[in-house]
Amino acid sequence: MSDTKIYKGLAGVVADYTAVSKVNPDTNSLLYRGYPVQDLAANCSFEEVAYLLWHGELPTAEQLVEFKKECWNSRELNQRTIDVVMSMPLDCHPMDVLRCAISFLGADDEYHFTESIEHIKKTGRALLSKIPTIVALDIRRRRGEGYITPRNDLGFTENFLWMVFGDGPDSPLNKPGDVECFDKSMILYAEHSFNASTFAARVVTSTQSDVWSSIVAAIGALKGPLHGGANEAVMHTMIEIDDPARADDWAKAKLARKELVMGFGHRVYKKGDSRVPTMEAAFKKLASEHPGSEKWVEMYDILAQTMYDNTSINIRPNLDFPTGPAYYIMGFDIPFFTPIFVMSRITGWTAHIIEQYENNSLIRPLSAYNGRDQREVPTA
Ligand code: COA
Repeated sequence: MSDTKIYKGLAGVVADYTAVSKVNPDTNSLLYRGYPVQDLAANCSFEEVAYLLWHGELPTAEQLVEFKKECWNSRELNQRTIDVVMSMPLDCHPMDVLRCAISFLGADDEYHFTESIEHIKKTGRALLSKIPTIVALDIRRRRGEGYITPRNDLGFTENFLWMVFGDGPDSPLNKPGDVECFDKSMILYAEHSFNASTFAARVVTSTQSDVWSSIVAAIGALKGPLHGGANEAVMHTMIEIDDPARADDWAKAKLARKELVMGFGHRVYKKGDSRVPTMEAAFKKLASEHPGSEKWVEMYDILAQTMYDNTSINIRPNLDFPTGPAYYIMGFDIPFFTPIFVMSRITGWTAHIIEQYENNSLIRPLSAYNGRDQREVPTA
């Protein structure tokens, strides 16, 4: 066996520079292009943050109007894409639908490979605009409801809530707290340096492939429960526990069996996820505005305390822990929590694709062989 040092899971490996975001586990901070994420969530819309990630600066008022116009006018899906979504099995995972629909849209690109930075940005704008339409259509078809066409007079979050729930009196669209909470979640999910899905997108970009392929790879990586799929798993956990009075015992038993509790821990943050305080406050405010939701808050607090008190490294929640119940309270079906994450992370992925393309080097690590020694093929 070789004595080569192996960085299992690439843990601790610094693979490249990035100017998109800075994750600092020592100070629990996350900066997008230099701005603290909690300040962006408090003061900006998701669209301003998308612009920031792609262009490096927040937009002026005129730039924002232009950016919104470009995005809002390309939300519609053509009939062929609608047909692809409608033809997918009703019981497949929604991430599979998204992956297929994006692949399908990519086949219409007149260029087979990435041509320029502007080509990447144009594709990013198309994806930022159309992914919510695909997700909303998929949500509704599974509920036996018809397609609601996008509106180009509404912002990103409002338009998505409209396409999923319409504008009836119970729609989250008519609840300012829901709109605010959802928009904040989009900002917090937008970008997080070299996480698995972003790295997958960068690997594909490094081969000089095309943006659509990079995004499809990223979607595949995000689907996993150790990454984006954790927000779904959190809500399944909470539903399984059901009664806050059972939460403490449930978590202790899980830890005793050395099983993972989803929504806790992080590869980089070991002293707390910088995004959690903002999302936790938004989730608790949302719950206070939805009668009957108090039990999720109670369970949230108990689980967080039990995990902290009963692990040697005081494991804390990650962003998926408050986001899961927040989306549930708003009325989203659990399998759609990860596609909703994609609606946001497409901004970070695109920013990294631009960065990789601008300063490319093929990503191709080495491996240490630990298989059989050379031997002879048996002959008859
Ligand atoms: N539940 C229970 N135990 C956990 C845990 C969790 N969520 N996260 C970490 N641990 C345990 C590990 O099993 C390990 O135990 P060991 O020392 O006995 O082997 C110890 O805590 C240290 O783990 P750590 O090195 O900090 O984790 P990691 O960097 O290898 O993994 C994650 C990070 C995110 C993959 C891991 O925390 C996890 O699987 N979390 C649940 C999934 C999740 O919420 N993912 C979303 C991430 S944003």
